Amino acid sequence: MGKLQLKNMKKAFGETEVIRNVDLMVDDGEFVVFVGPSGCGKSTLLRMIAGLETADSGEIEIDGIDVSRSDPSKRGIAMVFQTYALYPHMTVEENMAFGLEMAGMPLAERQQLVEKTARTLHLEPYLKRKPKQLSGGQRQRVAIGRAIVRDPKIFLFDEPLSNLDAELRVRMRIEIAKLHADLGATMIYVTHDQVEAMTLASRIVVLRDGLIEQVGTPLELYSDPDNAFVAGFIGSPKMNFVPATVLGRTEAGGMRLNVPDLGLADIVVTLRDANSKVPQQVVLGIRPEHFLDPDTADSANVSMIPEVVEHLGGVSYAYTDAGRDSSLIAEVRGKPGLKVGNELRLSVRPVDCLLFDGDGKRL
Ligand SMILES: Nc1ncnc2c1ncn2[C@@H]1O[C@H](COP(=O)(O)OP(=O)(O)O)[C@@H](O)[C@H]1O
Ligand SMILES: [Mg+2]
Repeated sequence: MGKLQLKNMKKAFGETEVIRNVDLMVDDGEFVVFVGPSGCGKSTLLRMIAGLETADSGEIEIDGIDVSRSDPSKRGIAMVFQTYALYPHMTVEENMAFGLEMAGMPLAERQQLVEKTARTLHLEPYLKRKPKQLSGGQRQRVAIGRAIVRDPKIFLFDEPLSNLDAELRVRMRIEIAKLHADLGATMIYVTHDQVEAMTLASRIVVLRDGLIEQVGTPLELYSDPDNAFVAGFIGSPKMNFVPATVLGRTEAGGMRLNVPDLGLADIVVTLRDANSKVPQQVVLGIRPEHFLDPDTADSANVSMIPEVVEHLGGVSYAYTDAGRDSSLIAEVRGKPGLKVGNELRLSVRPVDCLLFDGDGKRL
């Protein structure tokens, strides 16, 4: 079992509140990813769960037992860091067995466990090597192996793949997903990379300035964000945000909007909450991948003149200066005529448009 509950967690360093009132339930076997910009408190929160940092207030329960004041080694938690923190003078085998030896596990049992874990992680050929004779990916696997042999209730990962090159990062990401499926253990994973969050998480926790902005499955956060911060953080390239003026309400409760940056004089967008108080000036959010072919069913046609075009092969990105300091990005597929300065005809469906107020609150 590895059920975790955080209640009212707070932490300040001096005057700076780094974690502000965090409440969270993590079920046994979940893969929860903490994501957010650098400095938002992800590592601090993880270290508080591990017991490496003391909370100023709040409670941490694991399987219903308050461990807030328990020693890190007594919490049933294993942590894997971005820097692998292996013992340089020990072999792979010794690194993995060290914690077990400290815990008094007999040699034969230790060896068996290390061998079994090395097989899972494809580390068998390297057991006699020292860390400096390993690649970055192999070192990170040893660090993960050292966590696995301890059979923790909860695994904590703090940006474990950030020091690896892009290709290796993708491979390790898939290995971690497989590992979670095999072990079925509770995992909490910190990253600033929204792609890692989207691909690994059963649920994502979006943090900003020490506060939880939203918790949900990757697709919930992608399609139904609570605010502009979450909408902008999840998804790549980032959601476009353009100003819009409210013209009125339809009988069915839709908002009639004028969106000059998209050349849309009067489009009707449905509110998430029909009872929202809607100001005159709002912000319309539309994802780059939600620009469709012109004349798509239930869409409004838009036209743009790209100033920059990026061809990535299967997909291209067209950038236009929307007349504001932020430009508009459209994802385009299969348009051979796509060129800087050529008119690009596309369309947007009102169902793909999200509305926010000036403070970024979803309407
Ligand atoms: N030991 C510390 N002393 C003072 N400030 C700290 C300490 N650790 C972290 N901080 C500050 O707390 C904030 C959150 O840090 P951290 O949890 O490491 O962020 P993240 O992991 O999301 O990048 C940052 O502003 C950081 O400078
Ligand atoms: Mg960090």
